[in-house]
Amino acid sequence: MTVVKNICCIGAGYVGGPTCAVIAYKCPDIKVTIVDINPTRIAAWNSDNLPIYEPGLDEIVFQCRGKNLFFTTDVDATIQEADLIFVSVNTPTKKSGIGAGMAADLAFVESATRRIAEVSKSSKIVVEKSTVPCRTAQSMRTILDANSTPEIHFDILSNPEFLAEGTAITDLLNPDRVLIGALQTPEGLKAQEALVNVYTHWVPRDRVITTNLWSSELSKLAANAMLAQRISSINALSAICEATGADVDEVAYACGRDSRLGPKFLKASVGFGGSCFQKDILNLVYLSQQLNLPEVADYWKQVVIMNEYQKKRFVRKIISTLFNTITHKKIAVLGFAFKKDTGDTRESAAITLIKDFIQENAKVAIYDPKVCPEQIFMDLSEPGVVDNRKELEKQIQICASAYEAAEGADAVVIVTEWDEFRDDQIDYTKIYDSMHKPAFLFDGRLLVNPTKLREIGFKVSVIGKNELAGTA
Ligand code: UDX
Ligand code: ADP
Repeated sequence: MTVVKNICCIGAGYVGGPTCAVIAYKCPDIKVTIVDINPTRIAAWNSDNLPIYEPGLDEIVFQCRGKNLFFTTDVDATIQEADLIFVSVNTPTKKSGIGAGMAADLAFVESATRRIAEVSKSSKIVVEKSTVPCRTAQSMRTILDANSTPEIHFDILSNPEFLAEGTAITDLLNPDRVLIGALQTPEGLKAQEALVNVYTHWVPRDRVITTNLWSSELSKLAANAMLAQRISSINALSAICEATGADVDEVAYACGRDSRLGPKFLKASVGFGGSCFQKDILNLVYLSQQLNLPEVADYWKQVVIMNEYQKKRFVRKIISTLFNTITHKKIAVLGFAFKKDTGDTRESAAITLIKDFIQENAKVAIYDPKVCPEQIFMDLSEPGVVDNRKELEKQIQICASAYEAAEGADAVVIVTEWDEFRDDQIDYTKIYDSMHKPAFLFDGRLLVNPTKLREIGFKVSVIGKNELAGTA
């Protein structure tokens, strides 16, 4: 039986960092080294100020770092030392060429795989951790096989990560399941067992699912597509609610009480974001097209189309409520991250919304408790919108608190559901008093109690709720 003693993780990002920190924490007998080509990122992992915010992560890293958890840019030496290598590099959607806008760009996976092939001096288990299109393991195998010798053998496993940002540590410590796919050969099964034994340090064996490689790769895309589909379904219903007077929270609750449906992932919102949902669905769409299954492709594509529609619908609602123009008006945006408890902004609905506000010539004041100003400028400076930082600075103001953002604003827009924006955490009377009147509040997260805020004096619009039904 292969016993894993030394793990290398290539890629110190949102997936590799927390996952391997938890492995180190739960497996004191295993040395875990996380490598990255980005020296700034590694320096941050080695500092008191970790490069990603995730509740509970600091404690685990500070406890294990320097004992059995290490961060370095020395990729080659770490690969050579390891008996198991997680490939956790980024797999963004391709921006150009064949499959642009849909297929995953596998350049980083390929370059990491080639590095493993080039520098390895002993046999290794190579684990695909990044979410990848189906059959990526096959490409990795081709690269590794072409570079292996009779003495050096590579086994490839698929071990997709299901953690959600903001709850990464609890998800990793207590996962619903761990999925490990392998080629169904004696060597493949042996490698699979070796990784099973890493996870069973803390995960009950019956939660570790073993499958073939392709099932494992597809399951990750399928799980994300189905979760996103639930959100698009409730968001589609939210439009009906607004038009009829039904309340989307009540509808979600009534549906979720059916044990076949369950209550989770039925929270209507201004649209899902994050690095995974859209990317993975588009991957699935691309795969279906490649397999000549256009109906299947169209089916999944609709989940993304509905998400875009939801964001645009929210913007239109804001503009029409503000008397059909937001030119020169001040809009306070509360939240920039794609969800609470993370500083990650990838595909955040806030980006789409604010770009639209800017195009309408509004002044936008932004406050997020965890996203740094540089990141906000980077996200909003994409070419085609406002590519000049000075121009952008004329239209956006980054604030240190919700109060500062709301001062003199015509409207407050809640985009991220941070707890500190709840009406029992923040003083909405103070916010109301400092705003232009009439003071509008648009809740894209169903976070506040509209009745309470209307009593203060706000004109409130909430996704999936008809304001007339509330004010009678
Ligand atoms: C997701 C998957 O949940 C996770 O299993 C996978 O490994 C990576 O992708 P993540 O993107 O980190 O995780 O966050 P998630 O909690 O799934 O939220 C994604 C987006 O959907 C967020 O913008 C969130 O606000 C939104 N959302 C989620 C809703 O709008 N409504 C809901 O009911 C749930
Ligand atoms: P994810 O959310 O999937 O973790 P991130 O972008 O947060 O994605 O992290 C991926 C990390 O992988 C980045 O820090 C990037 O620098 C790193 N990376 C990409 N290619 C390589 C490589 N060939 N060798 C080492 N690190 C790499």
